[in-house]
Amino acid sequence: MRKHIVAGNWKMNNDLAQSELLITNLLRQNKTSDAEVMIAPTFTNLKQAFESLKDNTIEVIAQNMHFAENGAYTGEISAAMLKSVGVKTVILGHSERRAYFNETDATLAKKVDAALANDMRIIFCFGEELQDRKSDNHEAVVEGQIKNALFHLEADAFKDIVLAYEPVWAIGTGETASPEQAQDMHAFIRKTLADKYGSAVADSVSILYGGSVKPANAKEIFGKPDVDGGLIGGAALNAEDFFAIVNAF
Ligand code: G3P
Repeated sequence: MRKHIVAGNWKMNNDLAQSELLITNLLRQNKTSDAEVMIAPTFTNLKQAFESLKDNTIEVIAQNMHFAENGAYTGEISAAMLKSVGVKTVILGHSERRAYFNETDATLAKKVDAALANDMRIIFCFGEELQDRKSDNHEAVVEGQIKNALFHLEADAFKDIVLAYEPVWAIGTGETASPEQAQDMHAFIRKTLADKYGSAVADSVSILYGGSVKPANAKEIFGKPDVDGGLIGGAALNAEDFFAIVNAF
């Protein structure tokens, strides 16, 4: 049985006081679904968030990490540094990292290896641009992103990998992919995994959808057979909206 997961990607939002206020409000919410819940504050808020949630099932995760263990990488954070503040899961490959910070498939393959070498779980993001979909090239783009960054791995690595399909044209735009579009791509991703690693591995990997998930559309999207949850941006910054999505299963 695949895990249901709802992760909130806070992106570059919330200073320490705002982070603590949001966490206080999250702790007031009731969870009525079986979903695993994660939040990804900014680096400066991770330690405090981990302390505030240490007696709660909400997992604190990171939005990114560098592939090096340490060294002359000004401004970067290593896996070991994340682990030292209690973080065990990291988001990698978000489209904003790819677009604004030139993260390539090759860079991401090195980050994936570094995270796994540090026994971290990965939420690996990928997704097509609008022009890829308009030219019916979206499956080829997604297939390339997955194969180039993940298909050097052995099958058992996928026990520590969650996939997150985030069509770039749906991120922050309010233009959510339709439940059918999400299901079609998730089914394609799962077949791509099965063709390489077999159906047992493919069926065990949780595939999240991200891109304008809101309380109003979460239930229909999460109801699709190959959608195992969501990676949530804007709606994660409001405790009630985020838990309305968590409870949409
Ligand atoms: O990583 C999740 C994010 O990219 C989705 O953002 O605001 O469309 O839910 P949003």
